[in-house]
Amino acid sequence: MAAPEASRAASASGAAVPVPPPPPAGGARRASAGRGSGPVLLAAAGPLSAVAAAVAVATGVLTAPTALLGLALLGAAAAILRALLEPAAGGLPPLAQALALIRGRRAIFPRDFSGAKLERWQIEAMLEAARWAPTHKKTEPWRFVVLGGQAKGEFEALTIKLCRERLPADKAEATVAKLERKAGKDWKSVSNYIAICMKRHADQLPEWEEVAAVSCAVQNAWLAATAAGVACYWSSWQEAARTAPEMLEFLGMEPGDQCLGFIVAGVAEPGRAEGYKAARRPLEAIAEWRL
Ligand SMILES: Cc1cc2nc3c(=O)[nH]c(=O)nc-3n(C[C@H](O)[C@H](O)[C@H](O)COP(=O)(O)O)c2cc1C
Repeated sequence: MAAPEASRAASASGAAVPVPPPPPAGGARRASAGRGSGPVLLAAAGPLSAVAAAVAVATGVLTAPTALLGLALLGAAAAILRALLEPAAGGLPPLAQALALIRGRRAIFPRDFSGAKLERWQIEAMLEAARWAPTHKKTEPWRFVVLGGQAKGEFEALTIKLCRERLPADKAEATVAKLERKAGKDWKSVSNYIAICMKRHADQLPEWEEVAAVSCAVQNAWLAATAAGVACYWSSWQEAARTAPEMLEFLGMEPGDQCLGFIVAGVAEPGRAEGYKAARRPLEAIAEWRL
């Protein structure tokens, strides 16, 4: 189901928040919040409309309740516009910029990577964002292993070996053939795999809470990747390889820890990221309001 171009989110007070349409994928850095004369006009609109309402009531054009309702609606619209365009509390980015980044994030696949290598700062930006994810009991269960160069080749070879050894014979042959084709093609354009690992604190939290915290960290990293010009997607990878004790050992993890997949990252061919389109169910289909 295609999402409407400008979906509308109901605020707690019942007013509708107009959400700007998403920028093209990878274009978040270029998205403009449309600052400039907007705040000045808004500042002037309040007093001017109050004067206009008073004149309208005095001359009998509007009744007092109608004029008051008009002023209240104008006030609500001004508050929404301010939230969209002006810095949030503490000087944080305006709502319009935050939503543009969230909606502009896309899964971009290796077939659209150029083969160029990512800069270290780009991956560090992703990891920096990841470590600010929410974490119950502050266990910070996320661990990441960045694989590039020789380690990347070892990881790919280990994946194929584990699939050959661990899959049932009737599946192993076709899967290994498919992976070997990928190794000769798509995988060559990958700059880095980033293993997504979860350090378990079984004495403190149920597993789902730590999986959720690591997932939040991945989303943070993915948003930072979007802003830093990194093309990537979250791959669950081949289960036979991901869940093997040898893979955990390769990643430096301990028994009981888990690997939750890999961020497959690279540099997009110019213009390719912008070609990715996405849709989501509208708000009405996913949320129920009981106010
Ligand atoms: C936990 C998780 C695992 C995923 N594993 C895969 C995968 O193995 N292969 C794949 O093509 N996409 C995978 N994806 C990425 C989704 O396919 C991607 O988010 C989807 O294509 C929607 O694209 P969008 O995020 O750009 O809207 C995974 C996503 C999540 C959250």
